[in-house]
Amino acid sequence: MTNIGVSITGSGSAIPKVSLDNQQLSQIVDTSDEWIGSRTGIRKRQLANPTESLCSLATQASLAALGQTNITAKDIDLIILATSTPDDLFGTASQIQSELDAKQAVAFDMTAACSGFVFGLVTAAQFIRNGVYQNILLIGADILSRWVDWEDRTTCVLFGDGAGAVILQASGRDRLLGFELRSDGSQNNCLNLSYQPQEKKIIDGVAVSKGTYQPITMNGKEVYRFAVQKVPEVIEKALFRANISVEEIDWLLLHQANQRILDAVASRLNIPSEKVISNLRNYGNTSAASIPLALDEAVRQGQVSSGDIIAASGFGAGLTWGAVIFEWSSI
Ligand code: COA
Repeated sequence: MTNIGVSITGSGSAIPKVSLDNQQLSQIVDTSDEWIGSRTGIRKRQLANPTESLCSLATQASLAALGQTNITAKDIDLIILATSTPDDLFGTASQIQSELDAKQAVAFDMTAACSGFVFGLVTAAQFIRNGVYQNILLIGADILSRWVDWEDRTTCVLFGDGAGAVILQASGRDRLLGFELRSDGSQNNCLNLSYQPQEKKIIDGVAVSKGTYQPITMNGKEVYRFAVQKVPEVIEKALFRANISVEEIDWLLLHQANQRILDAVASRLNIPSEKVISNLRNYGNTSAASIPLALDEAVRQGQVSSGDIIAASGFGAGLTWGAVIFEWSSI
């Protein structure tokens, strides 16, 4: 019988080499290490230089993830790239497929901002559960520094660049235990990276526009309020679906937006701080990359081991938010 259970068997990550700490940022905008550190917990972030691409970071992370498994790129059936910052708006996943020489794999991008990895994990799992695919590469990668307004101190201090990847494999036992995904477009204007027309042209009586995407805008207070309220709720719902109690969680793995959000969510769920995975101090908010990047570090440092139950939750622009409960299962 076909294996239709989902196991997450490998992780990998990649970050750009150049780092920018809060002290350096305070030379660019009116801010301080003290302000950023106390409001967010972030001390530095890694930034892609103009020669680095999303494709190169994602490929590096993917190779590292494959290295933890018993499969090679040739065995991959599907590649999903969760990103809001593709190298090419037509999609970057196919370029990664080519770089990896994953000839059998079909590849596509998907966008759910900082919830992208969690949405991607649930999407990927469906292809295994219906028996269509056996090996899936899921990547969360973003280069938000391309779209940050470096003169806006309310946003530029928060973000960094990176990529993380996991391999999902069909297995006899289903280790993806429960999930819940949510969207609320009525709050879309809280966090945007929107297209804006700059020029209008009339072509034979038809009006068209030519423009570009505008730097990130955010209502920080609203986003903060939303995260602290909605993330505990969605985790509780996913736990309910998994038939698992909060006490059974080994690790709380939240989108790494802000240490205060991590602390508030953990406190609302009565999860002790020792169970909260956090690495945002070194990377800032890397959007779709943040969860797999933090997971990969925790796996490689021996914090997370086989059999551990992880409650992961992503939240952000859209607005979108979601949680997935899974058992880590390195081979
Ligand atoms: N350095 C110094 N001062 C800053 C600053 C910075 N980088 N950014 C804002 N300030 C100032 C503000 O101008 C304001 O000054 P004022 O009182 O004179 O007007 C003051 O600090 C307080 O600003 P406020 O926006 O109230 O701060 P806050 O406590 O809400 O913290 C965030 C701001 C952005 C850290 C917080 O709202 C947050 O983390 N929100 C969630 C953002 C997020 O995670 N987004 C991504 C989700 S995926």
